[in-house]
Amino acid sequence: MEIVQAVRWSDDGTAVRIVDQRLLPERYVECDVRTIDELCEAIRGLAVRGAPAIGIAGAMGLALVAAKLDGAPRDEVLQRLKHAADTIRATRPTAVNLPWALDRMMRTACATSGDAGDIVSALRREASAILEEDRAMCRRIGEHGLALVPDGSRVLTHCNAGALATGGMGTALAPVYRAVEAGRRIEVFADETRPLLQGSRLTAWELSRAGVPVTVLADSMAASLMRAGRIDLCLVGADRIAANGDVANKIGTYPLAIAARHHGIPFYVAAPSSTFDPGTPTGDAIVIEQRGDAELRASFGVATAPDDVSVYNPAFDVTPHDLVTAIVSDRGVHRPPFAFGEGTRS
Ligand code: MRU
Repeated sequence: MEIVQAVRWSDDGTAVRIVDQRLLPERYVECDVRTIDELCEAIRGLAVRGAPAIGIAGAMGLALVAAKLDGAPRDEVLQRLKHAADTIRATRPTAVNLPWALDRMMRTACATSGDAGDIVSALRREASAILEEDRAMCRRIGEHGLALVPDGSRVLTHCNAGALATGGMGTALAPVYRAVEAGRRIEVFADETRPLLQGSRLTAWELSRAGVPVTVLADSMAASLMRAGRIDLCLVGADRIAANGDVANKIGTYPLAIAARHHGIPFYVAAPSSTFDPGTPTGDAIVIEQRGDAELRASFGVATAPDDVSVYNPAFDVTPHDLVTAIVSDRGVHRPPFAFGEGTRS
């Protein structure tokens, strides 16, 4: 099974190589991000997207910033790195993986004794470790989630929580990939995921490329599919999981969870340790990114709403913990009552 690599070092190591996800499914293009401006633009513009992937890209980008400071006095290096980390952090507020990765990089920089060259090497190693650890966490999510996806499962997913969103084989899609690897017959239904269509553009693309049967549907069709008895389980990713188990994920996840509960269908969330935020007690405290009007007024360049109406366009919603059947992480399958304390994060 061929699984796409969404973010990695360029061959010569001087850039962050990403798959430009704005162009899929029409064109597969990889591009190299070399500067902090290019990185911030890539994250804000969703060329690289998905909670783990933006954390990894942020960490690698900060390592590139450090490399350009080689030879500068240590204090100046730390100060400029902090400024760069704050700039990257401000690109998207909801996924906790981004501040988690940047904080980890800054802790590494501050804890490294020696000169700028030592900090450059330490940050390079740390960013590579964040990438490798994410790959391993995806794999473990796949192993832990395998029991939830028996042979013959018909799985409904939302947005893209696959390889394109991570450093490895994905989060929500990891148990699907593992189940297929294990010879199980799995069918995936991918919500289109308005307004930016990560489900139909990205999830359908990566699953069909990997040979996994997938059917695309508009978000509004999910409940009727459940009512028709054609869905066995829902499996989605997360951008931030609060201490009480409330889950922020792509807008449209919450109505899916309500529909699943109504129809008695298990609603599973899959996420690596880096997506848990023990410092946020409930979903009410999660900042939800609001995106521009153009995404609804002119979807993909075509007029889809009059210019003079106001637009409501949150990128994420919060699913209350009581609608979540279980959360699969790299550490295992967590069932209610959820309580994610400080020990939850790596
Ligand atoms: O706006 P996006 O495309 O970055 O949103 C992505 C999602 O909501 C994913 O479901 C989430 O990040 C989990 S990815 C493993």
